Amino acid sequence: MERTAILEWFDVSSVREDFPILTRTVNGKPLVYLDNGATTQKPRQVIDAIVNYYTQLNSNVHRGVHHLSQLATDAFEVTRRKLQPFLNAAHEHELIFTRGTTESINLVASCYGKAFVNTGDELIISAMEHHSNIVPWQILCEERGAILHVVPINDAGELDMDAYRSLLNERTKMVAITYVSNALGTVNPVKEIIALAHAVGAPVLLDAAQAVQHLPIDVQALDVDFLAFSGHKMYGPTGIGVLYGKEKWLNAIPPYQSGGEMIKEVTFAKTTYNELPFKFEAGTPNIEAGICLAHAIDYLTELGLDNIASYEHGLLEYATHELLEIPGLRIVGTAKEKSSVISFLLDGAHPYDVGVILDKLGIAVRTGHHCTQPLMDRFNIPGTVRASIALYNTREEMDTLVAAVRRAASMLV
Ligand SMILES: Cc1ncc(COP(=O)(O)O)c(C=O)c1O
Repeated sequence: MERTAILEWFDVSSVREDFPILTRTVNGKPLVYLDNGATTQKPRQVIDAIVNYYTQLNSNVHRGVHHLSQLATDAFEVTRRKLQPFLNAAHEHELIFTRGTTESINLVASCYGKAFVNTGDELIISAMEHHSNIVPWQILCEERGAILHVVPINDAGELDMDAYRSLLNERTKMVAITYVSNALGTVNPVKEIIALAHAVGAPVLLDAAQAVQHLPIDVQALDVDFLAFSGHKMYGPTGIGVLYGKEKWLNAIPPYQSGGEMIKEVTFAKTTYNELPFKFEAGTPNIEAGICLAHAIDYLTELGLDNIASYEHGLLEYATHELLEIPGLRIVGTAKEKSSVISFLLDGAHPYDVGVILDKLGIAVRTGHHCTQPLMDRFNIPGTVRASIALYNTREEMDTLVAAVRRAASMLV
């Protein structure tokens, strides 16, 4: 189907009716929300579920015999049950609830690190990682005397796969790579990355914070070992995230935090740990967010991630084409495979100043280094202006963005 046909076929106006915040104004203008990479807005289905939780279910999970506790526990576990087909995980217990992508990655760095990383071992990340997929591995390397390698990228923002191949060897103990770059929009060739890592016996963690809301993911087809993402970037509540881990790895690594829920039996002489997934879920979780994430999963599933990907890609191509007509505008991140992110600079203008003007016109974008300082250093820039697209954005909003950037250029350049 032609991209324009896809734009028309996707019923974005009825989608927008599900998102109450999209009708508000900012600085007297209709809100154009293009900071979806930071967090997405929430559909009424998720908002209603939050109200329903506190008015009908509020109770602690996995511990009470009383009615409310059982209702809350069932609802919480429904989310795990829905995540399994959403990601095509082999087992429900391979899905661990965390606070978000950051905690999911820290969990793996800490627990896998303790069990499997020793002096002289090597870990591989890439030049386009978010700080949360850099710093945990740096800390691990410092603690264990391991070496951190970084796969370089080309000027388009694509991984140098030859360099990646040459970094892999029998000392490689982990490859941790982002699926989609939050600052460039690059979609990495993750299936190939995983197969190459497995050929030297190394597991792979994918940071899917910017992927899970834009692309269908099948963890078994990818054969990925760990996959991390956040609820709040996929139309769900803040404070809940997911770590998918293959059963064999989750059984092989020690628990993360300790306390209630993660134990089977505690005596002062010895404690035994709970079975998966509870071994990794110490203490009271974010119950409300965990329950309501199910409604975000339903929302994405009903629209269909293939449809969402096609629609968003149509918007991305359209906006990219129109923005490039503006004299002095440069897009940072021009990979062949991209998803939902347009990072750009206006010659002679600081990204922050562009962001302030866009805000005055009701347009929310992100400016700065996007938690990817080494990547900005690679391009020798302080930061970019980032417009990140979601399923409720429209072609008209892309036109509003382009007109506003033209106006900013006329004022600043
Ligand atoms: C690629 C990527 N990884 C990790 C994160 C961290 O996510 P969170 O702050 O939800 O833990 C983000 C957030 O922007 C991201 O874009």
